[in-house]
Amino acid sequence: MASTLHAQPAQPPGGRGRGAITSPRNAYPDRAPADPAAIERGKALYGVNCQFCHGADTRGGDGGPSLLRSSTVLDDQNGELIAPIVRSGRPGMPKFTLGDDQIKDVAAFVHSFRAAGYDEARLRPPSIIVGDSKAGEAFFNARCASCHSTTGDLRGLASRIPDERLLQQTWLMPGSGGSRGGPPPVTLPPIMVTVTLPSGEMVAGKLDRLDDFTVSLITADGTHRSFRTNGNTPRVDVRDPLQPHRDLLGVYTDADIHNVTAFLVTLK
Ligand code: HEC
Ligand code: HEC
Repeated sequence: MASTLHAQPAQPPGGRGRGAITSPRNAYPDRAPADPAAIERGKALYGVNCQFCHGADTRGGDGGPSLLRSSTVLDDQNGELIAPIVRSGRPGMPKFTLGDDQIKDVAAFVHSFRAAGYDEARLRPPSIIVGDSKAGEAFFNARCASCHSTTGDLRGLASRIPDERLLQQTWLMPGSGGSRGGPPPVTLPPIMVTVTLPSGEMVAGKLDRLDDFTVSLITADGTHRSFRTNGNTPRVDVRDPLQPHRDLLGVYTDADIHNVTAFLVTLK
């Protein structure tokens, strides 16, 4: 992946900014800011996989410690120290199957807080609309139009989400950008599951819980059903309507992200 280095200062110039950094944070290594597109992709991945436990601003949340204070994260350059933790999990943290590039992107996002003196806005160019909207339209027609239409469900998208960063976050990973007081989060379609019992009976509904030993779901009439699982019995098929979006996150180049956003902001 191309990692263009942007000539932005790692610390804000001027007296006020400096004042804000006269803390132990001074000891943090200077890091060249990553490409904003890598940070955006990482933010989306972080939003769906890590935010719940480590907090939207990586300072800790429900069930996970602050990553900003972690010496591992501090020493990490490019995801190389974060990767083994993400892949093998920790007590209280599940393991994830994310690719090297995806972990690099997550690391770029996590490091962006520190590089920017906790203010990620400083790291970014004034506008993120730097792509080519025609190329974005072509990409949209090739990769998105099977599920979306700019005259149907996405009509007026940019009027509904006028904040361009949030708009970008929303199309990258629906549901991932809304934690900072943005517009009403998209109503995400539920994850569905079908359980096929040894008798052949099939029970389907919204997934409630799935772990190594049980699966529970809520059927269309609101009944709660729970099943013990043992290996592949009963058979459990999970369908996450947002899986295509997760998969696509690994496909976009930096240019694709810029272009698609440049196109979507025209949908007023
Ligand atoms: C279900 C909650 C949960 C999720 C989701 C989660 N974590 Fe964690 N994470 C934890 C907990 C709890 C710890 C501390 C474990 C320990 O004490 O060893 C931790 C530790 C870490 C550490 C090590 C910090 C240190 O210095 O020891 C890193 C790095 C980390 N998580 C990154 C991530 C990333 C990146 C993601 C998303 C891909 C993620 N975590 C998702 C709960 C979670
Ligand atoms: C295989 C189907 C599929 C593909 C391909 C797909 N999406 Fe989605 N997308 C969904 C689903 C499902 C949702 C959840 C919300 C919904 O049902 O509209 C969603 C949500 C969204 C949202 C939020 C909708 C809203 O109303 O706020 C945007 C924006 C979006 N996708 C853009 C894109 C873009 C851009 C692409 C191509 C790069 C893309 N999607 C590719 C299925 C898909």
